[in-house]
This record gives sequence, structure tokens and C-alpha cells, in this order.
Amino acid sequence: MAMPDASEPLLPRASRPRNGAVRLWVLRLGVAVITIGGLLVLLNLSLHDHNGGGGGDDGSGPNEGGNAPLSAASLEACAWPLLEPHVSLLDVPAISRDEYLSRQETLASALAAAGVDAFVAEPSASTEYYANISSSFDLSERPFLMLLEAKTGVFSYLVPQFETGRIAGLDMVYDNRDRTDSQNATDVAVAWAEEESPYAVLARARPGWNKVMLDEHARYMIAAGLQGAGIEVVPMSETVQSLRAVKTAAEVALLRGINTFTLELVRSVQKCLRVGMAQEAVVTASSHLFARAGVGEGYWSIVLFGDQAAYPHGGKHGKTLAEGEFALIDIGSKLHGYGSDVTRTILPTGAEVSDELMGIWRTVFAAQSAGFERMRVNETCSDVDAASRVVVKEAGYAPFYTHRLGHGLGLEMHEHPYLNGANSEKLKLGEVVTNEPGIYVTTEQAKTIGKEFGFGVRLEDPILVTDKGGEPMTGRRARSPYDP
Ligand SMILES: *[C@@H]1O[C@H](CO)[C@@H](O)[C@H](O)[C@H]1NC(C)=O
Ligand SMILES: *[C@@H]1O[C@H](CO)[C@@H](O)[C@H](O)[C@H]1NC(C)=O
Ligand SMILES: *[C@@H]1O[C@H](CO)[C@@H](O)[C@H](O)[C@H]1NC(C)=O
Repeated sequence: MAMPDASEPLLPRASRPRNGAVRLWVLRLGVAVITIGGLLVLLNLSLHDHNGGGGGDDGSGPNEGGNAPLSAASLEACAWPLLEPHVSLLDVPAISRDEYLSRQETLASALAAAGVDAFVAEPSASTEYYANISSSFDLSERPFLMLLEAKTGVFSYLVPQFETGRIAGLDMVYDNRDRTDSQNATDVAVAWAEEESPYAVLARARPGWNKVMLDEHARYMIAAGLQGAGIEVVPMSETVQSLRAVKTAAEVALLRGINTFTLELVRSVQKCLRVGMAQEAVVTASSHLFARAGVGEGYWSIVLFGDQAAYPHGGKHGKTLAEGEFALIDIGSKLHGYGSDVTRTILPTGAEVSDELMGIWRTVFAAQSAGFERMRVNETCSDVDAASRVVVKEAGYAPFYTHRLGHGLGLEMHEHPYLNGANSEKLKLGEVVTNEPGIYVTTEQAKTIGKEFGFGVRLEDPILVTDKGGEPMTGRRARSPYDP
């Protein structure tokens, strides 16, 4: 699908900070570019309200101010008592030190089997996974690299000399104390001075490394630098990719916790949503609801009403929910680094849409069901994607199901494996992947197929691949637009 028209705002405006609200918010400024089913989407990252209140100055459109009936504040006030009993779903422990160490051991064995001497990564989901080095660590032109030796499993890192103190202060997890190999805790940091080539320093410090596997997120300059220093670089193998794609029990517990909670949040919003509310009221209220539950950091959302939902990447600012329209809410946050990604297409209690739109909702649900049945061990990703398209095609909407069925979910919002028509990978026991078919018809397209208004319907649950089939990490799938 084409990129959105540049003249069209990609985000509802209220999901960006407004000047007047700055004092109320702790902001992690930034816009993340992610893809949903292969489409580029711009998302706001983590607005967290440490004021806890909500208040009126929150971009809830025509109804902002105080507790006006259709404001974000009133939506939040209505939803929180429904959601609060579910906050305990988030009582899941973070990944333990032992698990990090065992991940490093597993990686070392896989590297040895692949015939490489070491693994090299820049701060990314991979370093977060293996050593608790946050993916939000700011990359600069000066390389800071995680290093893991294949033969010994010894962890170390390459670091700008003047940054040694700061980086040693990160909560990195490694254990070299018992190792009697050439490297040990005293030389875990390989420091390079400003006037040196970091890669030449690395090549000198690790003379036995002739060939390394580079993490898929590392920048080209790292590959070029290593090669320039005489170290052969190979790309990350599918085997190493699937180490992180297959979730451990602790990870599944975290994903289940944040995703079941996220669905409860959507359910609470559905019970309080009213015709006339603005998309931005849902964005703001949801941000506050996640923050009140203690998981505001990592919040993102796509909230689209009526024909705006025809753009999976988001439509225009200021849309309010009208009679006869669906509300599409695609939302998530993070728990100890692990993300949620849940979409529901809903209706407020008492509101209705045409039989035709209800039929579209059921078609998308049936497409999702077909995907579920195939989300078993050893099914090929492209076959699962294809299975979800059959019913959409039968309903005549094949051209309007424009993106892939889903993607892996974990530390990254989108990660391996990708369920698209070209991926011949097989699903593995313990992978968590989203199942998110959708049908999108813009108002312009609607006129070409004898309809007046555009619409968009998507349903999404992350699922755990088992040997029997898919298990929703949300606890349960949608039952209807009134019972998400
Ligand atoms: C991982 O890092 C986080 C954030 O810095 C820290 O709170 C946590 O204790 C670390 N985990 C371990 C096992 O050290
Ligand atoms: C660690 O390395 C230092 C110097 O590189 C050496 O003096 C020390 O004995 C080593 N310790 C262990 C436990 O191998
Ligand atoms: C999946 O395929 C592998 C390799 O072909 C086989 O060993 C395994 O038994 C299969 N598992 C299931 C649940 O079908």
C-alpha cells in the first residue's frame, strides 16, 4: 500500500503533546515508526501522566474542559473503576538474572554450531534480550557493542573509553566470575580512546575472532568497520533469530499479563464510549488508564472512527464517533519490556451499524478464526496467512485486506516470525505472533463498489503457538462489537 499523503496528518493531534499541557506530562519525546502488516505507521510513544488526574486540557476536542460528558476525563472516570480490578494481571516478575545467563549460554552454543567466533550487537532488542542492555540506549556515532564469544560464552563489550563509567553503571547482566578463560570480569570492557579506531582496538583485544555474527539491528557502519579491521561479518541466522522468537515461560507470563490487561482496558473503554466522543478522548483516556495501572511507559495507540479506519496507519484529527460507525482501537503498552498489541473494532452500548458493516465484522472474525486454527507447530507462515484470506476473498473483499496476517511480538512490537505470503518459515512451539486480519475501504474506494462511506475493521490478538493450535494471549477473542 502507498505511503500516506504527506499533507494528511498521520496522527490524531491530541496524541502529540500540546504546549499548554507540558507541565502536566512527563514526556519521552519521539515518534516511533513501526509497521502494521507491512504498512508504515507513526506512533506517539509513552505519554505518561504523573499527575494521575486526567484534567480537561488534554485535547478531547469540542468537549474538553472539566468533566464534560464526552471528554477524555469523563471516559477515564467511567472506565477506571471497571479496569482497576484487573490491575493485578500485571503482577508478573521481570526476567531473572538466571534467565539472562541461560540465554547467553544458548546463544553461545548456537554461535559455535554456526561456526562463528562471536556475536556482536548494538543496543537493541537483542542486547535487551541477552544482557538487559536497554534498546532505548541512545546510539551515537561512537560504537558501544555487546560481544559474546562462541567458544567460551564469555560476555564483554566494546565501549568508548570516556563512557566506561556510565556504561559500567547500566544494569547489564553477565557472569564471568567463574571463568578461567582468556577473558574474565577484569577485562569485560574493551575500551577505545577517541584517537583510536574502535574496530582496530577490538581486533587487537580479540585476536582469535576471524568471523562474527552481527545482530540484524546493527548499523552498516559497524559491519563496515569490523570488516575493515579484518573481521569477517556474517548476518544473523534464522536459527539465532528464532532463539528470541520462541518465548520462555517467563516471557509468556509477561506477554499474557500485559495483553490480557490491555484487552480489559479496551473492554472498559467500550463500556464507556459514547457517540459524539472524539478519537483523541480515547487516546488520552487510555494513556491515563495505562499510567494509573503503572504501565504507562511504552503506551501507543491508533484510534480511528468510521471512514478514518480505512487508513490502517491513521486518518485525520478531530473525528468524533457518529451513529452508524465503528470505532477501531489498536493499542498497547509494555510490562518489563514486553509489549501488548490488541485491536478491537467496537460499538458503544446501544449504537448500531448497518447489517452490511456487521457482515464485514463477521468476515474479519472468520478470517481471524481461520488463522487461529492454523497457528500450530510446523505450519508454514505463508500458509497461515493464506488461510486467513479465503473467507475475505469469498466475501468479495480480497483487494481490501491489504496487509499481512501478523508478526511476532515480544521485546519488539514487530519481530520474527512474520506471517506474510512470502515467508516459508515454519511456526515453532512457543512463538507468540499476532493474528490481525482487516478490511479497509476508503470513502473514495467505497463509491467504486456501490457504497457511500469508507470503513475499516481489524481484529487482533497475539497468540501463543502450541502443538494444538493458537492460544490467545489476551485470554479470549472478541465475541461481538459490543463484547470485545
Ligand atoms: C534489568 O534492567 C532493569 C532496568 O535497568 C533493572 O531494573 C533490572 O533489575 C535488571 N535486571 C536484572 C536481572 O539485573
Ligand atoms: C582475569 O584476568 C586477569 C588479567 O587479564 C588475571 O590477572 C586474572 O588472574 C584473571 N582471573 C581469572 C579468575 O581468570
Ligand atoms: C514438527 O516437525 C518436526 C520436524 O519435521 C518434527 O520432528 C516434529 O515432530 C513436528 N511437530 C509436530 C507437533 O508436528
